[in-house]
Amino acid sequence: PLIKELFGLTELEEMLRRRLGLRRVIIVTGDADQSEWVKKEMGRAGARLLREEARPGQVVAVAGGTTVAAVAEMMAPSPQLKETTFVPARGGLGEAVELEANYIASLMAKKTGGSYRLMHVPDQLSEETYRTVIREPHIREVLELLKTARIAVHGIGGAMEMAARRKSSPELLRHLRETDAVGEAFGYYFNRRGEIVHKMKTVGIQLDDLQRMERIISVAGGASKADAIAAFCAVACRDTLITDEGAARAILASE
Ligand code: F6P
Repeated sequence: PLIKELFGLTELEEMLRRRLGLRRVIIVTGDADQSEWVKKEMGRAGARLLREEARPGQVVAVAGGTTVAAVAEMMAPSPQLKETTFVPARGGLGEAVELEANYIASLMAKKTGGSYRLMHVPDQLSEETYRTVIREPHIREVLELLKTARIAVHGIGGAMEMAARRKSSPELLRHLRETDAVGEAFGYYFNRRGEIVHKMKTVGIQLDDLQRMERIISVAGGASKADAIAAFCAVACRDTLITDEGAARAILASE
């Protein structure tokens, strides 16, 4: 707490909380764009929060990406989380396996002693395949479990960065450029005003599902993600944001 005071972080947290209309904001020192270590610190803050917020028998929905992976890496065996089931928030989104929600959910379970479920679904489904897949008993079971999730922990990415990471088609890249997409979370792409400009067809948590949850823990930092974080918070996150000083100052400095 003392270090936060020295750097004025407590004040920044309160300013950002009000600006974005959130319940709680946690800011770590530094800028993840500048140093990998800052992402680890966001991971540490996320892991601590998950431990503090844990309730017996809860389900935690887990999204993919390097920041949520950092949260998983920082988790440790804990009696509070031993009775938690970690469930991937969505099926594959066409990324490297270590960045997939499936893998990260299993890592959280392994680190804490909790349990996990997997959702083996391909990404970018056609309408027909999608309808078939969600009728599969195994998938249905995981989707039912997801509906009972108490907490969601997820990342937020830059729209163009995420589209590139997913090797999206030139058409989609063009569409995102034309619609001024700035951010992405849960397979939804947003413009600066927080309007959804594109949505990927994958199985799992939809934005509306977040309403039912007790806690939504958004973890994202780096000054380059300022617009993405602000856009997502304009629509969906009303709860907890874990970010870094770089992103916080950039959001507060923008109009
Ligand atoms: O692809 C999964 C995902 O959670 C996206 O929804 C999000 O934009 C991204 O990962 C964040 O990734 P990173 O933390 O690596 O920037």
